[in-house]
Amino acid sequence: MSKSKNILEIRNVTKKFNTPNNKVLTACDNISLEFEEGKILAIVGESGCGKSTLMKMIVQLENVTSGEILYEGEDITKLKGEKLRQNRRHIQMVFQDPNTSFNPRMKVRDIICEPLFNFGLIKKNQRDDIAKEFLEMVDLPKDFSNRYIHNMSGGQRQRIGIARALTLNPKVVIFDESTSALDVLTQKKIIDLIIKLQKEKNITIGLVCHDIHLVSQISDKVAVMYLGNLVEVIPGRKLQGECKHPYTQTLISSTFHLNMNYSKKIENIKEAENPIDISKGCPFKNRCKYSIEICKDKKPELKLVSKNHYVACHLNNGEEE
Ligand SMILES: Nc1ncnc2c1ncn2[C@@H]1O[C@H](COP(=O)(O)OP(=O)(O)OP(=O)(O)O)[C@@H](O)[C@H]1O
Ligand code: SF4
Ligand SMILES: [Mg+2]
Repeated sequence: MSKSKNILEIRNVTKKFNTPNNKVLTACDNISLEFEEGKILAIVGESGCGKSTLMKMIVQLENVTSGEILYEGEDITKLKGEKLRQNRRHIQMVFQDPNTSFNPRMKVRDIICEPLFNFGLIKKNQRDDIAKEFLEMVDLPKDFSNRYIHNMSGGQRQRIGIARALTLNPKVVIFDESTSALDVLTQKKIIDLIIKLQKEKNITIGLVCHDIHLVSQISDKVAVMYLGNLVEVIPGRKLQGECKHPYTQTLISSTFHLNMNYSKKIENIKEAENPIDISKGCPFKNRCKYSIEICKDKKPELKLVSKNHYVACHLNNGEEE
């Protein structure tokens, strides 16, 4: 993997939520991760492991409890007022369900151009031309500009969401399960579009996705999260054959594929720990078949095991950097 500039650096970021019964839920626990410019970084892990919370902190929809998020070397968690507002232009997010993020009474051209209006960058009489330009960019017909969103398919709406995210010419775009509500063919087309945009515009992509096979094929780097912790960081192309963390291996072996043998005994996967009361030691210990004594007491640190490959597991001692 060729090394390029880190456009975004997450440094020791923790996010804690207070729950209604006065307990504390740690959604992200001391996460450090780097986004290389123009590359695709995917975050995987089961529901509730903290993927969206991490992404929301990057786009500043959530505040960090502690830690730093550096964009182009500047800690954006400390920004306030106009500087914070201006910074939002650089990092945009496309959500899973465009229906809930769009105003159904607005025409497509207004939806697409809304971020530009918010920043006072265009005049009303420019919106049709600009909307058409962005519709073309996401491979939609220009006459969609005059339509309402409810007259469009899920895939088309998701393209509108992408067009809208691109209007401010962002350097980083986060896709949080942006294709999971779509059928596989439409999903493929949207993924192709994301890759095209990444290549043509050198946009850095943060991708939250449950499809491990897809992620391994398109991502430069994959970060695996478990109960708020980063447990493995690995180049996408190595994910399926060379992942080392027992949780990553479980994730990969749990995916459905053609020619599955259902006559084999299905391994019983225990429930994850409650994120509110995580005991000491490795967060994966109660589900891990390789667990040893030290796993109960000591949380493993993320260590380099081979080039660009980090694992947090006591079975991997790491190598000198
Ligand atoms: N605003 C909030 N207040 C309290 N707890 C929250 C809040 N947002 C998220 N959480 C909790 O933080 C943890 C991580 O949630 P998050 O949405 O980041 O998970 P996720 O990995 O994105 O899951 P999914 O794959 O289901 O989208 C969960 O236990 C969730 O219940
Ligand atoms: S540290 Fe122990 S419990 Fe955790 S994944 Fe490794 S072997 Fe399993
Ligand atoms: Mg989520």
